[in-house]
Amino acid sequence: MALKLKDRFEKKFDEEIRFFKGVMQGPKSVGAIVPTSMVTAKRMAAPICVGSGLPVLELGPGTGVITKAILARGVPAEKVFSIEYSSDFYDHLAATIPDVNFIHGDAFDLDGSLGEHAGLTFDCVISAVPLLRLPMEQRIGLIEDALSRVPPGRPFVQITYSPVSPVIAKPESYVIEHLDFVMRNIPPAQLWVYRKP
Ligand SMILES: C[S@@+](CC[C@H](N)C(=O)[O-])C[C@H]1O[C@@H](n2cnc3c(N)ncnc32)[C@H](O)[C@@H]1O
Repeated sequence: MALKLKDRFEKKFDEEIRFFKGVMQGPKSVGAIVPTSMVTAKRMAAPICVGSGLPVLELGPGTGVITKAILARGVPAEKVFSIEYSSDFYDHLAATIPDVNFIHGDAFDLDGSLGEHAGLTFDCVISAVPLLRLPMEQRIGLIEDALSRVPPGRPFVQITYSPVSPVIAKPESYVIEHLDFVMRNIPPAQLWVYRKP
């Protein structure tokens, strides 16, 4: 039991060190100071409809906390497609979480990153890609492109640390919903959902 606790502690510490190294290399593209908490990751994965049988698209998996929550939600690993920009994070993810389709690519170029899978319809999109430093048109472009790959009404879930939606309203394209505010996250996280009307 004590050994299990020690193992868990060491694993968490290792993930935090890895995250910190990522922050040092590209603070703008990492956009957070420590990995997403398990509580937040679980809430982000909650809207997945496992029964749809459709694959799930994850953007910006980082250390893989949210990927693991998606798997724990019951989505088979081979039905998870996860796009990570940083080669360090990507190498670690590919080596430690088996059977998930990790893609070393750019969430802002979904066609290019998904390649032969670009025609897939996903159940939903779960994103931790930092948006706040990017121009608004680019943020909107990401939501619209991702939502064109999920059935109407299915969600694009986004984590952010700002109290307002990182994407402005565009009711003809998507509706915005505040999913949750999670205190048990550093910093506390705001979760937003975008859906095609
Ligand atoms: C806030 S961190 C993710 C944290 C992750 N939930 C965790 O706890 O480890 C943002 C992640 O998005 C990745 N990222 C940033 N820009 C990206 C892009 N354009 N495409 C794909 N991933 C991107 C970063 O490399 C980083 O892993």
